[in-house]
Amino acid sequence: MRSLIKHVLNSTEPKDTVTVKGWVRTRRDSKGFSFLELNDGSCLANLQIVVDAGTPGSEQMPQLTTGASAVVEGKLVASPAQGQKWEMRATKIELLGVADASYPLQKKGHTAEFLRTIAHLRPRSNLYGAVFRVRSKLAFAVHQFFQERDFVYVHTPIITASDCEGAGEMFRVTALKGNIDEKPHADFFGKPTYLTVSGQLEGETFACALSNIYTFGPTFRAENSNTARHAAEFWMIEPEMAFCDLQGDMDLGEQFIQSMAKYALENCGEDLTLFGKFVDKGLSERLKFVVERPFVRVPYADAVEILNKSGRKFEFPVQYGLNLQSEHERFLTEEHFKSPVTVFNYPREIKPFYMRLNDDQKTVTAMDVLVPGIGEVIGGAQREERLEQLLENMKFHKLKPEDYWWYVDLRKYGTVPHAGFGLGFERLLMFLTGVSNIRDVIPYARTPGNAEF
Ligand code: 4AD
Ligand code: MG
Repeated sequence: MRSLIKHVLNSTEPKDTVTVKGWVRTRRDSKGFSFLELNDGSCLANLQIVVDAGTPGSEQMPQLTTGASAVVEGKLVASPAQGQKWEMRATKIELLGVADASYPLQKKGHTAEFLRTIAHLRPRSNLYGAVFRVRSKLAFAVHQFFQERDFVYVHTPIITASDCEGAGEMFRVTALKGNIDEKPHADFFGKPTYLTVSGQLEGETFACALSNIYTFGPTFRAENSNTARHAAEFWMIEPEMAFCDLQGDMDLGEQFIQSMAKYALENCGEDLTLFGKFVDKGLSERLKFVVERPFVRVPYADAVEILNKSGRKFEFPVQYGLNLQSEHERFLTEEHFKSPVTVFNYPREIKPFYMRLNDDQKTVTAMDVLVPGIGEVIGGAQREERLEQLLENMKFHKLKPEDYWWYVDLRKYGTVPHAGFGLGFERLLMFLTGVSNIRDVIPYARTPGNAEF
């Protein structure tokens, strides 16, 4: 029976026989014995194994080089070495797969850029192993957060005919050959279809039946922005709540981020320590701060005024009616407030049609949550639930109600105030790990010009 190294290292007592399987991180040879550091990805730490000369299988020792895989049977004994409680004394060792000198992860620091070119091997490095363990734990925490609050998990479609954000940044899905625009009606679905940019519209239909729902799935954007926080394929979490307004929406968004930070601190300690050492020295302080302190809330108009009065030279202009750029968002959260910030009530021109028009007739009930190091991590809104106003919004944004007939129907049949948001899972992970490029928190990044692996 194979034991995971994580469990072996957490053992409360010595053990007569333990079997572990993993990949060699390093080997050091001494007179009469060798040290192997074995890692199986179950935790950051390696298991140190002492292999005496003459141990069955030890004749394969020369081939047990960095990257090779092996099965080791032995005794678990208290380790005399500093910093580890247990080590293993091998009684039998078996080489499974060799890794010759061309194995790219020889022990030395590699740049993130280089590791992206070997994305199939990088999870075997300490940092990426930690990132992807944290990613898995946080995915679980996302479900736990919503399930504990009686939200229903809805699988919204990946292939869709509607552009939720109205930004026209969609990947076309087609089974046609040649000129795909010649006869779109002859296509597989009888009309042009795309990969979804958001499950929100379908999510709203389910919230208007089951009250509180969330989605958590892959999302696609064909925006050609080659930045450290944009990916063409990313995972988004989208809660939607019936009988909820903008205040309730902001409350949930802020609690959600706090809860994820708390979960990471409590459940990913060993991996966070690694990030704190090598990626972001202030990480655990920052996460504690986020958990303990309320977020700042500021209307968009005030945010613009703060930026204008900052005396700071920004690359992009700051003006009421223009979108906040990443540099503006980061100034607000990192320098001005030094805290996560929720900006709300944006001008209607720069936000999608589905947001509720405020009584001022100028702004909509939008909210973006900005966090230090990232900028926007959540975008959400109270939705326009009034039929006439929704139709007017569509006209304003030059959309055809026929194309959204089922969405409009929600406002005809038992309409209710409702609100929701989308949180980019990778941006959350960047925030929680300190890793500064989105390409390094998703197993295989899809970015302009990049679809290897
Ligand atoms: O602000 P966005 O575009 O909002 C929506 O899609 C709404 N329909 C969500 C809703 O209300 N249900 O996107 C939401 C979040 C952003 O705040 C950001 O965290 C993430 O999704 N995001 C991206 N993450 C990585 N790469 C990209 N290209 C992203 N675009 C958005
Ligand atoms: Mg947004």
